[in-house]
Amino acid sequence: MSASDLSEESAAVPLRGCFIAGTDTGVGKTVISAGLLCLLGRGGLRVAGYKPVAAGAVWHADTATPGEPGGWRNDDVEALLAAGNVELTRAELCPDVFEAACAPHLAARREGRRIEPQRLIDGARHLMPRCDALVVEGVGGFCVPLVEGAGGDWGTDDLAVALGLPVVLVVGLRLGCINHALLTAQAISARGLRLAGWIANRIDPDMAYAADNIDTLTRALQSRHAAPLLGVIAHIEEPDAESVADQLDAQTVIEALQLGR
Ligand SMILES: Nc1ncnc2c1ncn2[C@@H]1O[C@H](COP(=O)(O)OP(=O)(O)OP(=O)(O)O)[C@@H](O)[C@H]1O
Ligand SMILES: [Mg+2]
Repeated sequence: MSASDLSEESAAVPLRGCFIAGTDTGVGKTVISAGLLCLLGRGGLRVAGYKPVAAGAVWHADTATPGEPGGWRNDDVEALLAAGNVELTRAELCPDVFEAACAPHLAARREGRRIEPQRLIDGARHLMPRCDALVVEGVGGFCVPLVEGAGGDWGTDDLAVALGLPVVLVVGLRLGCINHALLTAQAISARGLRLAGWIANRIDPDMAYAADNIDTLTRALQSRHAAPLLGVIAHIEEPDAESVADQLDAQTVIEALQLGR
């Protein structure tokens, strides 16, 4: 299975929006995806989140929330659902939810299921006619395997290529993030994707020399990948979509994602 076969097959519907990659798991992809949805929604755009694969879910009985059907609930899916402004179901927002909070291909194997690449690509294209911008949250870091097979592995980097969206890199600011950010940016560019910019997220409030790290990355990512710093998100006790959106500039994001054209 090759990513180019898949992207050719699904090339009919061009996507607009962005693919959110992270320097690692737990660096703030969901928090920032929700913030971007809120920001673009405030600007009058019709926006939806898309989480192709989510690992880590709890079962909600039919009776858990009045008026809502039961089913698996995942925190990322709930956050993206709340931050978007178009009608969509949880199954549309996330085609593949797994119970175990572990590497997705292992979570799938544990349930005797298999992640189908085409289903993830089609899921994004299915939402696009309802939106001006789709914010696709990646899974973990940039190169996470989703399918292991005799015909070759296929992962989140292949998914990003198949979707062809500009990439926004969320850098979780902690010791080691310069290396993680530069390696991830290199991988994104090597796959022929446009790194539209990066967002510095202060996940570690005690990080020493945080401003110097941001300066170094701003210079390196601009000179090596023409990728601008789109914003710095402060450490917030309970980060929500509104407070993240308040710290970003809509015009800067719209220009970086070429949504104004
Ligand atoms: N700016 C911030 N200030 C304080 N806490 C933050 C900030 N950004 C993220 N967090 C917290 O860090 C944790 C991880 O954030 P988040 O779930 O957005 O990461 P992620 O990259 O989406 O993780 P995953 O790989 O599991 O999808 C969450 O508890 C979130 O509330
Ligand atoms: Mg997440």
